[in-house]
Amino acid sequence: MTDGVLRAGPVPAYTTLARQLRALLDTRDWLTNCAQTCAFIFDTVPNLNWVGFYLHRQPEMLVLGPFQGRPACNPIAFGQGVCGTAAATRETQRIDDVAALANHIVCDPLSRSELVVPICSADRLWGVLDIDSPLPARFAAADQTGIEQLVAVFREASRLQSFSAPADAATA
Ligand code: SME
Repeated sequence: MTDGVLRAGPVPAYTTLARQLRALLDTRDWLTNCAQTCAFIFDTVPNLNWVGFYLHRQPEMLVLGPFQGRPACNPIAFGQGVCGTAAATRETQRIDDVAALANHIVCDPLSRSELVVPICSADRLWGVLDIDSPLPARFAAADQTGIEQLVAVFREASRLQSFSAPADAATA
């Protein structure tokens, strides 16, 4: 690194990581598995500053779940920001430069690029996995495929029941 530009480095061996994550997730409990999955990714994938889950616990709303990193924004409406866009479209969002995105929700100004993978269960949006990096263009297409592989491991290992609303949600 001689030009002052941080580089993402080689793509991690995601197939090996998927095997390790599968061995780590030895319960069906979604909460334990959320915590283990984000800690595992934060620990094994280089150059990340935030990894966490947002859960679909209120209608058209994402509520902060287990994460690693700095305290984060909560809640996020469907359609808002990168996470809300992933939730509304059910498509992975891979953003090279979050500063160039009008719709980006700034939780940490140090974040430069972002990958958000939607998680569905029984045809319902269950939540999203959000990953931030302080490097621009941190996530290559191979990282997207690899992280989607890790999310599939989480989904298959866990019993993804429906949520009741958080305690402070308005009651109808
Ligand atoms: N930047 C995200 C918000 C969540 S934080 O990055 C943890 C977004 O635009 O949805």
